[in-house]
Amino acid sequence: MKIVKCHSGNIMLVLKEVSEVEDKAIRANEVDASFEKHVPQYEILGDQVEIFVNHVMEEDHYIEWILVDYGEKQVIQHFVPGDDPRVTVPYQEGMKAYSYCNKHSLWANEEIHS
Ligand SMILES: [Fe+2]
Repeated sequence: MKIVKCHSGNIMLVLKEVSEVEDKAIRANEVDASFEKHVPQYEILGDQVEIFVNHVMEEDHYIEWILVDYGEKQVIQHFVPGDDPRVTVPYQEGMKAYSYCNKHSLWANEEIHS
């Protein structure tokens, strides 16, 4: 899985790369901003995991989506200002979570484990 930003500004999720994608891959956790407010946090609840981001959800600054990557599949939850950036999904060893802030780009938590 790869998340890229096109010259137009569109952000695209490359689910399968069969030839080299020339658009620039967005790298997680590289913007100079608070890790605590952007990196997805989690709480395991039995066979489920609640993934959330402790971030403001204001009109001009908010988490646009949380993406859960299971490797063979992905789950994406989109948000709008005022929402609670939180999603509950099945827990699976090796899963990763990403969040996207409209001002501070992509963040990742690649160590979700019980
Ligand atoms: Fe932000």
